[in-house]
Amino acid sequence: MSDSKKARMRELTDQLQQYSHAYYNLNQTIVPDAVFDELFDELVALETAFPDFVQPHSPTQRVGATPLDKFSQYEHALPMLSLEKAKTDDELVQFNKRISDSLDVENDIVFCCEPKLDGVALSLHYQHGVLARAVTRGDGFTGEDVTHNARTIKSIPLKLLGSDQPAMLEVRGEAYIPLSQFAQMNDRSGSSGEKLFANPRNAASGSLRQLDAKVASSRPLSFSAYSVGDVDDEHAKLDQQSHYARLLQLQGMGLAVSPLLKKVTGINAVIDYCQDILQQRDTLGFEIDGVVIKVDSLAQQQALGFVARAPRWAIAFKFPAQEQLTTLLDVEFQVGRTGAITPVARLAPVVVGGVTVSNATLHNQDEINRLGIKIGDTVTVRRAGDVIPQIVAVILDRRPAQARDIIFPTRCPVCHSAAERVSGEAVVRCSGGLFCPAQLKESIKHFVSRKAMDIDGLGDKLVEQLVDQQLVKTPADIYTLDMPALIGLERMAEKSALKLLNAIKASGETSLPRFIYALGIREVGEATALNLAQHFGSLQAIMDATAEQLLAVSDVGTVVAEHLQSFFAEPHNQQVIADLQRVGITWPDISVQQASAQPLAGCTIVLTGTLSAMGRDDAKARLQQLGAKVSGSVSAKTYAVIAGDNAGSKLVKANDLNVPVWTEQQMLELFSSNGVA
Ligand code: IVH
Repeated sequence: MSDSKKARMRELTDQLQQYSHAYYNLNQTIVPDAVFDELFDELVALETAFPDFVQPHSPTQRVGATPLDKFSQYEHALPMLSLEKAKTDDELVQFNKRISDSLDVENDIVFCCEPKLDGVALSLHYQHGVLARAVTRGDGFTGEDVTHNARTIKSIPLKLLGSDQPAMLEVRGEAYIPLSQFAQMNDRSGSSGEKLFANPRNAASGSLRQLDAKVASSRPLSFSAYSVGDVDDEHAKLDQQSHYARLLQLQGMGLAVSPLLKKVTGINAVIDYCQDILQQRDTLGFEIDGVVIKVDSLAQQQALGFVARAPRWAIAFKFPAQEQLTTLLDVEFQVGRTGAITPVARLAPVVVGGVTVSNATLHNQDEINRLGIKIGDTVTVRRAGDVIPQIVAVILDRRPAQARDIIFPTRCPVCHSAAERVSGEAVVRCSGGLFCPAQLKESIKHFVSRKAMDIDGLGDKLVEQLVDQQLVKTPADIYTLDMPALIGLERMAEKSALKLLNAIKASGETSLPRFIYALGIREVGEATALNLAQHFGSLQAIMDATAEQLLAVSDVGTVVAEHLQSFFAEPHNQQVIADLQRVGITWPDISVQQASAQPLAGCTIVLTGTLSAMGRDDAKARLQQLGAKVSGSVSAKTYAVIAGDNAGSKLVKANDLNVPVWTEQQMLELFSSNGVA
């Protein structure tokens, strides 16, 4: 073999060893998983070709890394293995063929499928139904005893339900942190100046490997069971035939199993399942990196047995990675509606989770400091769920010599007014107000948007032209636009100009909540605008309100009250409002209802399925008029779920939780009996 191949094997071994030490022992991710996997696969290929040159300390010679020595060690009765991987449908078909051939069966094989959670493996030992021990995977043979932390995880029962439990039952599963809780946890850490976690998996791993259970208990860990390990079960309480049946038994004992667990027949059904889960990936609420497929029959599993590191009867179908490496090419500064100057990273385009990413937000100066990032750096970008791409880490040992510091502007990059950082705030703001074309553009875009004045046909590009050509300098100018002015614009024919003028005119008859929202007062969203309108009934009353009176409105705290008062105190804003009224914007005042007189005051309502009489936004607005809070998720505290056609999981959950379910007709009757049009 060539010396260059030998050298490459040595290099890969060293690199991988270093990465996995950081990952397993120090809870640090140096490179994204996908990069690690690629290097690992390259090494496996070389070692297969040149078996005589496998080094004893190669990462392929053990399952993971050696555990830290500060926890007590525990040897697994049965090793915790890893899974073979498939990336294409074809590889799934080959997997199916291998096992069919090996089992010598003609019939379709029955598989048990579920999402592959992106957390950390955890083994729970139940002795006569009582949680006796919890052990991490460690190197697959020996793990760390983290019983003290596992006991703090609410989804792990301390005692299993039902009598006559096996003398010993080892449950294996994944400890993980749901995305919403991860975001909250990082927000909390961020505001208290603690270090942020790059992703939910690192957070789960770091939380589980705390010496102090108090720390772990403050972390939002969950657990989902995916298999049975070691058992001593003389009464044969556990099902002896099917993996799927066993998981349902675990569920019956009080453990969580995946709500997406499914038994399917034949590899084509497996492929469909994988596609289905991939479609749902961004909306699941927790991170997954693929699907795990297992032969369901325990007898067939036993017949198939194991290869070196993995069972022959299971495979992981891997989804596109949600983290990748790329280069930070430059940083640009964008000015938002409220003047906030946001650094935006321009990246060498890279495909992350199936989508090409070339921009990511860097949030603010604090985030730049925290990352310690420079232009030219190699960075890890991450795209998960619906959120905008983030830069989560910098690979310092790849920093080029000519890397440049990111310099925050001291003047607005658009209007050159001074840029100011308010003490106690992370953001830097342009002080130009509506004099700044960038702020003006964003304010106008907000003003005309669907939930504000709702001017159909006045899109972002058009707003930019109107501001650039100085046809619009304040929101009221929109209402004095005429045919000659519009015709002069790019791609604006007479017909569309006429349509736009009609839409502008129609928008002038609005509602008080829309008008308040359209003003773009900081932190006054749709819901707050509605509460203000209902509480005070007229714009004048809101403008005249004292801080104390404002604080009496639900959702209004001291920060929002301050923003409202300083907005209305500003002569320039008073002028904007007067001009808008002068050009004919009107709305009916609202008769002020006492909150307690509202029939749905304090009730949380969830809308699901398709409504036929009105859109969801309209139904929501009417429910809010009756005092309801409209939420997107069902819990035991939900007052009622209104189910339209084809209602899905929310309806199921409502029924599970005994939450009342109303039809659309019942909702309409409620509206008409309360005079809500
Ligand atoms: S089954 C014999 N099912 O993926 C191996 N593993 O490479 C049995 N994982 O670290 C594993 N979700 O913790 C299985 N539904 C699932 C899983 C799952 C995540 C993790 C597991 C292990 C890795 C296996």
